[in-house]
This record gives sequence, structure tokens and C-alpha cells, in this order.
Amino acid sequence: MASEVERRVAEAADLVTVALDELLPRADGPEARLTEAMRYAALGPGKRMRPYFVIETGRMFEVDERPLLRAACALECVHAYSLIHDDLPSMDDDDLRHGRPTVHKAYDEATAILAGDALQASAFEILAHPDTHPDPTVRSEMVLRLAAASGAKGMCGGQMIDLLGVRDDLGAVARMQRMKTGALIACAFELPLIMAHSIEARRPALMAFAQDLGLAYQIVDDLLDAEGDPDLMGKRVGKDAAKGKANYVTLLGAQAARERLNLLIEQTKSHLDPFGPPADFLRASVDFVLQRRN
Ligand code: IPE
Ligand code: IPE
Ligand code: MG
Ligand code: MG
Ligand code: MG
Repeated sequence: MASEVERRVAEAADLVTVALDELLPRADGPEARLTEAMRYAALGPGKRMRPYFVIETGRMFEVDERPLLRAACALECVHAYSLIHDDLPSMDDDDLRHGRPTVHKAYDEATAILAGDALQASAFEILAHPDTHPDPTVRSEMVLRLAAASGAKGMCGGQMIDLLGVRDDLGAVARMQRMKTGALIACAFELPLIMAHSIEARRPALMAFAQDLGLAYQIVDDLLDAEGDPDLMGKRVGKDAAKGKANYVTLLGAQAARERLNLLIEQTKSHLDPFGPPADFLRASVDFVLQRRN
């Protein structure tokens, strides 16, 4: 199953990269520097895990493939924007991402800010387009959920708390992580659920799964920052401890963080019980996330 998940992640990554290449504005005209920077960030070698979750969940609920791919692209645009801004000198001040210079290093800071802004706008342009769903009410619900996941009570709010610093309080760290990373991961499961719009009864279980997976995803990222191989990861390591960031690893140590992560993973999988065998790939995806090395 592990290698099958790997194959399906790679397949989703290819599909979404091709689709994004078509959907993002072409790098021409006097604004080409901006569109080039957007493409540099969004079409670069990310894992595309959020699109993978969108696609697997949508397939489980028999959502049409092409609209699903558009939803996956929209979410990846917000993710790419969040990373561009996360790396800025005024935020984490990183110079390496995906094994290449970060956007403000490859271009400049103003271009990086604009590329992030424009990728965010592209995400909503893609979602709001009639090709994403024939029913405008469904599209508007998708826009609403992605906006909520991205904004002050989601990713941006979590980034704010991360920058302000949380001290010695694991509950506050968990809340921050659920906002900065969990909200967009949860959105990957919510968008296909909205598109399928006939399975409301199982929504709470899937959302509980998604929220725990989002927290687990960030704890793995924090463990990799402490213990990972920078060559595999394509980004620098040891940054969180150096910057005094509060997370499970910096507060508890790697071993205790891993123990908590393992408990969280069991809880995450248990939320999938009502879905039976059709959710097998999601179950295997949890292990894939846990074991990732980049
Ligand atoms: C990195 O996310 C930042 C977090 C929110 C943990 P990913 O590890 O999913 O980013 P990619 O795969 O490099 O795009
Ligand atoms: C980033 O978390 C979360 C975002 C919302 C982008 P990190 O700052 O830990 O991500 P990396 O380690 O730089 O990828
Ligand atoms: Mg950060
Ligand atoms: Mg960072
Ligand atoms: Mg990190």
C-alpha cells in the first residue's frame, strides 16, 4: 500500500502541475516578472499533498475529475502563496525552498510579495469560475471555505501567532498549528465534500479526521526541521530552534513529540471508521504523511 500511495501522490502531483501550468497567467507582457515569479513558486517541485488529498477525497465521493482538479489547483495556489510569504525576510527569512532560492532571493522582495498576492487572487479566480462547478451556490460555498481557511482565523492568523511566539503552552501551540497549517489541509477535504454535496451526514467525521491530520502534518514538519536531511527536504533545517519558535519539538523534545504524534495518528485514523474500505487510501495517506522525509 505504501508504494501505491507514493504512486498516487506522484500521479496527483503530475495532474495538478499540468493543470496549474494551464490555469496560471502566461509569463508575457510588461508584468512578466510577476507571472514568472508566480510560476516559479507554484510549478516548482513541491509535494502537492493538499491537491492529492483533494483528488483522493473527491474520487471517494465520485466527484468529476476536471472540476476536482481545479479545486486542487486553487488550494495549491494558496499554499504556494503562503510559502512565498512565509520565507520573506520579515517572516522566517529563508533563502532555500524546494532545493532552490526562495522567491525573494530569485527575484526580489517586492516581486515575492506581489507573486504571493496574485497567487491568492488566482486561487479565488479559479474557484469562482463556472468550470469549477455548474451550481453558483456550490462555487460560492467553496470560495467561502477557502477564504475562511486562509484568513485571520485560519492560515494567516496562525502565522501571526507563530511570529508573535507562543511560550510553554502546548494547548496554544496546537491551536496555532491547527490554524497555520491545519486549516488549509482541512480545506483539502472540505472542498470535495462541498462539490459532492450529498453526504452531509459524514461531514463531521471527515472534518475531525482532516483537522487532526493537519496538526500531525505540522508536527512532522517540525520534527523534520529538527532531525531531517536538508538535501532530501530542499530547505534548511534547525531553523525553529535557532529562531526560538515554539512547537511540539522545541517545547517537548523530539522523542516526546514523536510519541504524541503517534497517539494523534491513531486518533486521526479512527475518524475514518465510518467510511469503511473506500477510505483505505486516506488511511494509508496518514502513514505516508507520518513517514515522509521531505
Ligand atoms: C510546508 O508544507 C509548510 C507547512 C505548512 C508544513 P509542505 O511540506 O506540504 O510544502 P511543499 O510540499 O514543500 O510544497
Ligand atoms: C509554515 O510553517 C506554515 C505556513 C502557513 C506556510 P513553517 O514555517 O514551519 O514551514 P517551513 O518549515 O518554512 O516550510
Ligand atoms: Mg513559518
Ligand atoms: Mg518557514
Ligand atoms: Mg517548518
